[in-house]
Amino acid sequence: MNQVQLRIVLAVTLSAAGFVPVRLSAQAQRSPVAPRRELVESVVREAYEKFRSDTSGKNADYIPYLAQVDSKLFGVAVITTDNQVFTLGDVNYSFSIQSISKVFTLALAMEEQGPDKVFERIGSEPTGRAFNSVPAVVDMPTHTGNPLVNAGAIATTSLISGKDADERWSKILAFYGKVAGEKLTLIEDVYKSEAATNTGNKALAMLLAKYERIYSDPFESVDIYTKQCSVGVNASQLARMGATLANNGVNPATGEQVIKRDDIPYILATMTMAGLYDSSGYWAWHVGLPSKSGVGGGIVAVAPGKGAIAVFAPRLDEAGNSVKAQKVIEFVAQKLNYNLYSPSSVGLK
Ligand code: DON
Repeated sequence: MNQVQLRIVLAVTLSAAGFVPVRLSAQAQRSPVAPRRELVESVVREAYEKFRSDTSGKNADYIPYLAQVDSKLFGVAVITTDNQVFTLGDVNYSFSIQSISKVFTLALAMEEQGPDKVFERIGSEPTGRAFNSVPAVVDMPTHTGNPLVNAGAIATTSLISGKDADERWSKILAFYGKVAGEKLTLIEDVYKSEAATNTGNKALAMLLAKYERIYSDPFESVDIYTKQCSVGVNASQLARMGATLANNGVNPATGEQVIKRDDIPYILATMTMAGLYDSSGYWAWHVGLPSKSGVGGGIVAVAPGKGAIAVFAPRLDEAGNSVKAQKVIEFVAQKLNYNLYSPSSVGLK
């Protein structure tokens, strides 16, 4: 078999196996950072097979829509900073981004206000409590905690400027689209379901108002926040959003600088401390990657300079993090030597 025949056989085998073939650019082929294509492909497949029949955890049900999402859905996507794409499973299913949105509203708030103001107005301490904790708001000196828990996220959304709620919401949605490299849309049914049941978030916003830690109308901010959580993404789009963070804010598909390079370290640090809520310590210990989960079942993990792993699987653990997504990411990150704290991941012997 000659070289050309070999390539054809390989391409047919991989596409039959569910991998999306992607043409590598000249830049991609020169990349010093991306692991070998065959390695990523085999690791993603191994992880997918290993965990596909795992049924632990259960769908979020405090947002009624999420309770009826098919729990068997399972999609894995890895996108490298040189835009190599590896996908397997239900990667075209659009699920609600939920709390993962908080990362990107934080990026937009920093773009508008600068990191110092955001730090001063929101803070960045882990709460050690559930993502929607009322006691955390009362007890923490900042009240807002950090931009990734509900209270801090609603306050971060309240920082986004605009002449009215529509303009602020449109700005947020357009920004997410630039980070994903394609237009994203609201899943109306998720929004309606959450808007009808989000009394807890309204209570958090009122409490923040009492402490003067919310920066525009509290209920309007909750409404925009609810919309941002209801934005639909599939695993590939989520992986590209993560790869943009991994690529110093430059979307690897469009080449556009969409998040300020200087803001990236603050975003990644915040994700490390609070991205998986009260499991963030476990996650830093075992995985060592800034990551963010959402109760829609998505998790994205960012390997700076290398790429991102996004997994969608709706069943959650007690902390509100997808069980299967955690297992897959832990496995893939370990096999690809992505752990930030491992000396060999940064080239040390
Ligand atoms: O505000 C809420 O409760 C949801 N819209 C988002 C919570 C969430 O995703 C927590 N994540 N693991």
